[in-house]
Amino acid sequence: MTWLITGGAGYIGAHVVRAMTGAGERAVVYDDLSTGIAARVPDTVPLVVGSTLDGPRLARTLAEHEVTGVVHLAAKKQVGESVDRPLEYYRDNVEGLRVLLEAVTAAGVGAFVFSSSAAVYGMPDVELVTEETPCAPMSPYGETKLAGEWLVRATGRATGLATASLRYFNVAGAAAPELADTGVYNLVPMVFERLTQDTPPRVFGDDYPTPDGTCVRDYIHVVDLADAHVATARALRGSPGLARTLNIGRGEGVSVREMIDTINAVTGYDRPPTVTPRRPGDPARVVASADRVRTELAWKARHDLHDMITSAWAGWLHHHPEAARA
Ligand code: WQD
Repeated sequence: MTWLITGGAGYIGAHVVRAMTGAGERAVVYDDLSTGIAARVPDTVPLVVGSTLDGPRLARTLAEHEVTGVVHLAAKKQVGESVDRPLEYYRDNVEGLRVLLEAVTAAGVGAFVFSSSAAVYGMPDVELVTEETPCAPMSPYGETKLAGEWLVRATGRATGLATASLRYFNVAGAAAPELADTGVYNLVPMVFERLTQDTPPRVFGDDYPTPDGTCVRDYIHVVDLADAHVATARALRGSPGLARTLNIGRGEGVSVREMIDTINAVTGYDRPPTVTPRRPGDPARVVASADRVRTELAWKARHDLHDMITSAWAGWLHHHPEAARA
């Protein structure tokens, strides 16, 4: 099959491109390069620079490259920004998806993998979040991902397009230093930034109802996440009408304090964090039940927290050579 990978020049998308081509699939990247980096796309993979709002461009691309499946990652993904600029998030994440699905169904593409998020769950009050846990997103970003899942599923029902929505939990790590996340929007890069600026990492609240009082999340290595896309793509192949919704996590909770301890150990900084007030909107605990993906796709994460931090740190040093200490 030939897979169009939208957002394939982004941090996660570039890993998905490598996993798919490594598994013998043909790939074409479609990315507007608003946050993506062209150099992340391998030389052997065509890069089409275009917006998901551009229907005619999408239609031409699907036809020219004889695309038979789509993995759709292109989207805006900053929760805080989505609160301030909801219209942009709905335009890019929902309208962009609608336009893409129009082109996809018109072109007779058979399979569609949608990049969703644990943000659809909001503040789940359960030990392990299953795909049946009610969705109650807390931000416009999370809303656009949930609306996107509905749109994808409804299209599959109406047209026979085989679909999967993958709900990513907290992604970290890199397959190679140059592929590392360059944004500083999540815990791991934020701690790296503080350490390398000679300031203590911050814990946003230590009075949560969790074992050490700090928030618990389910961190997953981006290489494992990318492999989950390969398993999903294979499951969708030749299965018209199939509709899957899957949590992609490890099913293991890690607290902010444990994460900062591991980062200190890996980087050799050994800098104790300072505790600041809670960040508004943070749920105490969000950990996946990974049972469904294990049973339905026979997929399981292989990399642990140490692998995530070690590879993310190598990436940080690659992108911030001034941070490498003597
Ligand atoms: C993790 C924990 C912070 C920085 C977000 C989105 C989610 C998904 C992944 C896209 C929280 C705490 C952080 C710091 C801290 N994105 N923290 N000190 O909020 O779980 O998830 O990114 O799909 O939708 O909501 O991730 O990495 O921002 O925070 O204490 O310097 O680390 O409060 O508890 P989050 P995060």
